[in-house]
Amino acid sequence: MEYWETRYQAQDMPWEKGEPSPGLVDFLAAHPGLSRGAVCVPGCGTGHDVRAWARAGFQAFGYDIAPSAIRLATERTAAAGLTAQFQISDFFRDSPPLRFDWLFEHTLFCAIQPAERDDYVRALLRWLKPDGQYLAVNYLIPDKDGPPFGTTREELWRRFSPHFELLEEWVPRSYPNRTGLELMLWWQRQPD
Ligand SMILES: C[S@@+](CC[C@H](N)C(=O)[O-])C[C@H]1O[C@@H](n2cnc3c(N)ncnc32)[C@H](O)[C@@H]1O
Repeated sequence: MEYWETRYQAQDMPWEKGEPSPGLVDFLAAHPGLSRGAVCVPGCGTGHDVRAWARAGFQAFGYDIAPSAIRLATERTAAAGLTAQFQISDFFRDSPPLRFDWLFEHTLFCAIQPAERDDYVRALLRWLKPDGQYLAVNYLIPDKDGPPFGTTREELWRRFSPHFELLEEWVPRSYPNRTGLELMLWWQRQPD
């Protein structure tokens, strides 16, 4: 927790782009008929993606381990006149306050230590409903000295395909410095 809180306090937040993930914005615009439900955004930062889900009519919930992120997310959501819930929470260690219809990943998987990726998959299965959907903006960079830590499509397939059916994959529109480096995967959870 200390590490991330310190970065927020020092305003050392290169991931903070002042807007939601372009890939998420385009996904929501392209799929106006999705069944509305509860969406979890773990590692939500200052809440841009949570607000995009809320704007699209979902019950949106953001969780982050850094208190400053949750404070900023709460303030900015109120200022935008939107409704969403934010809570300080450790995605890996805390119990989910509810089970979610959707879980949205954007720069949490690449932010954690690669050794925590088994914990990530276990947490995802705990926080998501048995028939939930997992939408991920994955960052396919080679870096081993993160954060951000890189991954590959092969690793993502190995970790998630035992639990999910892949509905769709595509290279999204990205922030300028990530163009061509992101891969969106839309997964439907399968019975265990
Ligand atoms: C690279 S930042 C990305 C923030 C946001 N997703 C964005 O794209 O603007 C990673 C975020 O994950 C949070 N985080 C790291 N470990 C976490 C954990 N175990 N549980 C919840 N949040 C965590 C950090 O505090 C930080 O806000």
